[in-house]
Amino acid sequence: MNSSLLSVSMLSADFGHLANNVTLVNQSSAHLLHLDIMDGVFVPNISYGFPVVESIAKNSQKPLDAHLMIVDPDRYIDRFQKIGISYLSVHYEACTHLHRTIQHIRMSNMKAGVALNPHTPVEVLTDILEDIDFVVVMAVNPGFGGQSFIPHSLSKVSRLKELILKKNPSCLIEVDGGVGMDNAPLLMLAGANILVAGHALFKDGDLQAAIEVFNASI
Ligand code: DX5
Ligand code: ZN
Repeated sequence: MNSSLLSVSMLSADFGHLANNVTLVNQSSAHLLHLDIMDGVFVPNISYGFPVVESIAKNSQKPLDAHLMIVDPDRYIDRFQKIGISYLSVHYEACTHLHRTIQHIRMSNMKAGVALNPHTPVEVLTDILEDIDFVVVMAVNPGFGGQSFIPHSLSKVSRLKELILKKNPSCLIEVDGGVGMDNAPLLMLAGANILVAGHALFKDGDLQAAIEVFNASI
């Protein structure tokens, strides 16, 4: 029995065979499908936009976990809701009126998450934790898949867990970036509830096998 959920990041997928990859995830024991939305402004990369997200949503049987690495995310919340996103996270660093943004996401019947860049201390969430459903601890600088896990992220997860226990025990911790079988057990021990993995699952060319091996280890 897993004690942590696996969210498969499609960023490392072969986009020429996107539908096949979504089917493989459908047939696997993965729990969520992670969609990285980048605008080339908040992060130095552009990933994919609504036509691709819509196509993935049509094919996916797993709940969709969209991670917005964009400025002014409020403009797009309604569209993500219409597409059928279940978990929607925005960056703390990109939201001037974070509380309003969170309310908008929740009013749209999606789980509301706040993502923190590696340099942003977890304590900045003290006064918003009661209003959110999950926190995304970025363990790499957002923008690219396949980067190395920043070791300091582990103690951030522990500190966040303490804060969550005081403020809102039902809030989940998601860890994103550089996650693999080497650090997954430690992250779970520290309090992670959702682990995002991309490169670690796609790198050997057998996505389904990699998911099953990963899930057996968490
Ligand atoms: C990075 C993205 C991550 C990334 C994770 O900006 O937010 O979701 O795809 O991929 P890996 O597991 O390759 O670090
Ligand atoms: Zn992500």
